[in-house]
Amino acid sequence: MADTMRHFLDLSAVSASELRQMLDSAREIKTATKAGHGPRPLEGKVLAMIFEKPSTRTRVSFDVGMRQLGGETVMLTGAEMQLGRSETIADTAKVLSRYVDAIMIRTTEHARLLELADAATVPVINGLTDDTHPCQIMADLLTFEEHRGPVAGKRFAWTGDGNNVLHSLMEAAARFRFDLAIAHPEGSAPEQKYVDWARANGASITVTSDAVEAVTGADCVVTDTWVSMGQEHRARGHNVFLPYQVNEKLMAHARPDALFMHCLPAHRGEEVTDAVIDGPHSVVFDEAENRLHAQKAIINWCFAAGH
Ligand code: CP
Ligand code: NVA
Repeated sequence: MADTMRHFLDLSAVSASELRQMLDSAREIKTATKAGHGPRPLEGKVLAMIFEKPSTRTRVSFDVGMRQLGGETVMLTGAEMQLGRSETIADTAKVLSRYVDAIMIRTTEHARLLELADAATVPVINGLTDDTHPCQIMADLLTFEEHRGPVAGKRFAWTGDGNNVLHSLMEAAARFRFDLAIAHPEGSAPEQKYVDWARANGASITVTSDAVEAVTGADCVVTDTWVSMGQEHRARGHNVFLPYQVNEKLMAHARPDALFMHCLPAHRGEEVTDAVIDGPHSVVFDEAENRLHAQKAIINWCFAAGH
């Protein structure tokens, strides 16, 4: 299986047509699941999940998603594994590959994900690293298209910290051909290599320090926490971020039918106000729900390799 093995590590590592198929499949799986006849192709398959950071949505949606597909999961916490006592990630990958059929990992440095995938002989899925969060963005695009139709040619705006979720959103802008305007305070820029890759792959990305400029005319406004997990050393004063808060005044610059998205967990009163996250533009709980269906499509894609 090794030479045809499919890892889901980043949107940049999967072709646009495969991602498109995955998204369409997610939509079909969701419809079938809601109608009570979701596909169960993974009878007898086991997904191991390693968490080296906290999680609510990723943990539950992968667990339930795998069960809905007919498979099972093993939940592992980094600190309770020998991994937490310095067994190497490569040795861990080789051992787990003897027991399970796929591995999902939420970890710190992106290099740990890549090292795991390198050494594993089963598919590896990125459940968030310091650098990217591709499963989240697949769920977000599923959500956008459910509400507004094809995402190609639409305008997304990101305001706040240039973090892992934004990096994956930039990759998606290239893969799915939507425009992305980013506003961030000084010192919180996304990593330039992600901007460069997205632009080199056809995305229209603008970067500014002006949140109003970024949000003006947007079809979708997206934000996230000002301090990501494990990034506390990068924390800036809240005053630095306040001009980037998504409140009703800022949302008024977007299109009247604009959606508001947030991967959650939200820090209400910081990056977003209650009025926006609980308001008519917000689809944050649809996004959370769609993690389940988007990830089932991702898992199926991984397991479909070589078949
Ligand atoms: N959005 C997201 O990944 O949430 P969790 O951290 O709860 O998994
Ligand atoms: N940027 C956030 C996303 C949480 C799902 C973090 O990494 O903490």
